[in-house]
Amino acid sequence: MRKRALSGMRPSGKLHLGHYLGALMNWKNLQKENDCFYFVADWHALTTEYERTEIIKETIDDMVIDWMASGIDPKQSTIFVQSHVPEHAELHLLLSMITPLPWLERNPTYKEQLREQSARDLQTYGFLGYPVLQAADILMYDAALVPVGIDQVPHLELTREIARRFNFLYRESFAIPEAYLTETPKILGTDNRKMSKTYGNAILLSDTAEEVWEKVRPMVTDPARMRRTDPGNPEVCNVFAYHRIFSPPETIERVNAGCRTAGIGCIECKQWMTEQMEKVLAPIRERRKEIVESGVSVRDLLEEGTERARDAAGKKMKEVRDAVRI
Ligand code: TRP
Ligand code: SF4
Repeated sequence: MRKRALSGMRPSGKLHLGHYLGALMNWKNLQKENDCFYFVADWHALTTEYERTEIIKETIDDMVIDWMASGIDPKQSTIFVQSHVPEHAELHLLLSMITPLPWLERNPTYKEQLREQSARDLQTYGFLGYPVLQAADILMYDAALVPVGIDQVPHLELTREIARRFNFLYRESFAIPEAYLTETPKILGTDNRKMSKTYGNAILLSDTAEEVWEKVRPMVTDPARMRRTDPGNPEVCNVFAYHRIFSPPETIERVNAGCRTAGIGCIECKQWMTEQMEKVLAPIRERRKEIVESGVSVRDLLEEGTERARDAAGKKMKEVRDAVRI
């Protein structure tokens, strides 16, 4: 049975392998057999980028091209920009009336961001309400499935609670959504920290094969392997974690044994890994080139999608206003 799926991504520039493995892969897999809505969360970007809003618009095209290069087909899926569907703001406002503050204040993602992004002043009303806006995005389309990375699970739990509260206070209006997660373990950046463009440790979907190798070659391996003849422990090595994601079982076993007996060198090991990773990256790079050369207008594609999204959102808001009696 076809289900409604929905997800969004903040426009933060070029996407990396973490975006692909954590979410985009599932966006693509869902699109054949479901009605999918994928959108650019530009208002969500504003919650942290309100002081340099110019980067939001500048990065939308790059991001959407990465979506398409990863296999998102605007003919099969509805792609649009959040701020072009102002109904999201209205639903956000109505949901904000019924969302208890403690639900927002205890949100682990919120607390973590406040800590991590200490350079920015995030003591704002908008930032605290981030998950309420996200709930509006999801509930607007009665999405059953929300393909996101595991870090988004607390936000989704909040969405479910807000939906239940609305349904209870007014009338059954919203479907209760579920997170749709990938099985791939989280990929770390090339410096063992969280993969992020701001850390400069990310393998971008738009990197050339040479750029990828320039990032993989200097990756820190097991420090016990000072010399080529020193045996190592793959369990403490990030290159091995990458092998686990990209390589077939025989290669993983060969690396495991070779590392422990000093039968293989780290450079060789990285080359094998890169070869396997290229099986994912090369087709994306190829499609990206085709898309760019085709001269397709991302703006036009987003406009078409926005029309479809507005149509659905307009209908839903009629029901919602009616339920609230306003
Ligand atoms: N918070 C999500 C992220 O940072 C982006 C997002 C906004 C989203 N609205 C959404 C994801 C609705 C799924 C559904 O990645
Ligand atoms: Fe890491 Fe491979 Fe070197 Fe072992 S051989 S330490 S797994 S890079």
